[in-house]
Amino acid sequence: MSFIYATDDPPENHIARLLLTNRPAPHKPSYGMDSPLGLVASNFLAPLYLYTSLKGKFNAWDKLLAKVPPEIFMYPSLDIGCGRGLVLMKIAERKKDVAFSMTRTPDPVYGIDLFIRGDQSGNAPEATYDNAASLNLTDYLTLHTANFIYLPFKDETMSLATASLSIHNADKASRKIALIEAARVLKPDGYLIILDLAGYIGQYKSVLKSMGWSIGLYIHG
Ligand SMILES: C[S@@+](CC[C@H](N)C(=O)[O-])C[C@H]1O[C@@H](n2cnc3c(N)ncnc32)[C@H](O)[C@@H]1O
Repeated sequence: MSFIYATDDPPENHIARLLLTNRPAPHKPSYGMDSPLGLVASNFLAPLYLYTSLKGKFNAWDKLLAKVPPEIFMYPSLDIGCGRGLVLMKIAERKKDVAFSMTRTPDPVYGIDLFIRGDQSGNAPEATYDNAASLNLTDYLTLHTANFIYLPFKDETMSLATASLSIHNADKASRKIALIEAARVLKPDGYLIILDLAGYIGQYKSVLKSMGWSIGLYIHG
C-alpha cells in the first residue's frame, strides 16, 4: 500500500526486513514494562504499577476495541507509539478474525515508534516483530521507526488510530502536534482511541474539541 505514505520513499518496514532473517519465533509474546525508571522511582507502589502497566492496560484495550465496528478492521489502522506492540497485536488479531468473513485480506495495522528504551523495557523493532511472529500475525502488520509529531502517512488514510500510554511522553507542544497529526491521517469518519494517564486527558480533550471532534470518555475502573 505505497499510496498510503506521504513521500515516495516510505520508511523501512521492520516486519518485512526481519521476516527475511528467519529469526526463531518465541513461544509466547512479551510486552515488557512501561517506564522502568518510573517503576524504580515509585518503589513502594510497585505492585500497583505492575498491575496497571500489564493487566489493567491489557483489559482496558479489550474493552475499548470491542466498541469499534468490526468492519473498521478491514481498513488501514495506525498504532501511535506502539512499543512492543500490545495494542498492535490486538488490532492485528481483529484483522485476522474479520479476514475469515471477507473476500479480501484486510489492510494492515501500521505501528510507529521511536523505540525509546526508557519508556518501555526491551523496546526495539525486534521485540515487536518477535511478538507478531509468536502470535502468527506478521501478515497483518507493518512496523516503522517514526516520530508521532511527523507521521509518514498521507492525509485521511486511516480508519482507526490508537495511542496507548505514548503521547504523554512528549512535551506539551509536541502532545498537541501529535493529536493534530493523528487527526490529519484519519479519514473523516475514522476513530481515534487514546488511553493515557488521567493528568493529560484535559489537554487532549481541549485540542480535539478545538478541531471539532466529538469525544466519548471511557474511564477504566
Ligand atoms: C509506555 S510505552 C507504551 C507502548 C505501547 N503503546 C503499549 O501500550 O504497550 C510509550 C511508547 O511511546 C514511544 N514514544 C515516545 N515518544 C515518541 C515519539 N515522539 N514518537 C513515537 N513514539 C514515541 C516510546 O518509544 C514507547 O514505545
